[in-house]
Amino acid sequence: MSGLFITLEGPEGAGKSTNREYLAARLREQGVDVVMTREPGGTPLAERIRELLLAPSDEAMAADTELLLMFAARAQHLAEVIRPALARGVVVLCDRFTDATYAYQGGGRGLPVERIAVLEDFVQGALRPDLTLVFDLPVEVGLARAAARGRLDRFEQEGQAFFEAVRQAYLQRAAQAPQRYSLLDAGQSLEAVQRAIDALLPGILERCRG
Ligand SMILES: Nc1ncnc2c1ncn2[C@@H]1O[C@H](COP(=O)(O)OP(=O)(O)O)[C@@H](O)[C@H]1O
Ligand SMILES: [Mg+2]
Repeated sequence: MSGLFITLEGPEGAGKSTNREYLAARLREQGVDVVMTREPGGTPLAERIRELLLAPSDEAMAADTELLLMFAARAQHLAEVIRPALARGVVVLCDRFTDATYAYQGGGRGLPVERIAVLEDFVQGALRPDLTLVFDLPVEVGLARAAARGRLDRFEQEGQAFFEAVRQAYLQRAAQAPQRYSLLDAGQSLEAVQRAIDALLPGILERCRG
């Protein structure tokens, strides 16, 4: 048995958390050992870094500070959770990973892709997700779902243009490596999204048993 690293990506309100639970339940029914986690965060120290990243603050955070904190949290998460789980042969379902850095700090903040790629290689070595589910939906729909949840975090307070850039960055990355990404229309009903996830299950099961 070999571990499988699956990430769920997309903007706020796209359904990542809801469908991470759904996918975990479907896999567990099949006897698959699953670890669910998220970024930024996933360990006590990385969750403290998450708080720094998400808390609205009077002091504007420099884009490079944001980028480095994301990767600092990721280094801890990889060391404490992701790499050990993969080594045990477990399926890791991670709500956001480095694609989110390309989308938010790259697309949204406008940091150069090359700078992100340097940190990706430094922090992850050769490790990349085996499969990435991209939950795509119109910006207004995601923002409305996020707003319905209550107080907005530092990212959710960004405007339409920021989230359009985030969306385009995700779509571009998915188009560049279609074998690694599954693009899901997250603007559909939850039932329709979950039928699309069901369709991916046989392939996922085959890979974690292979
Ligand atoms: N396809 C969908 N249609 C309608 N509402 C949805 C759908 N997917 C998720 N939701 C709802 O939208 C909200 C945000 O979903 P969530 O899974 O927390 O998104 P994310 O983790 O991507 O921010 C939740 O209230 C959830 O029940
Ligand atoms: Mg979520």
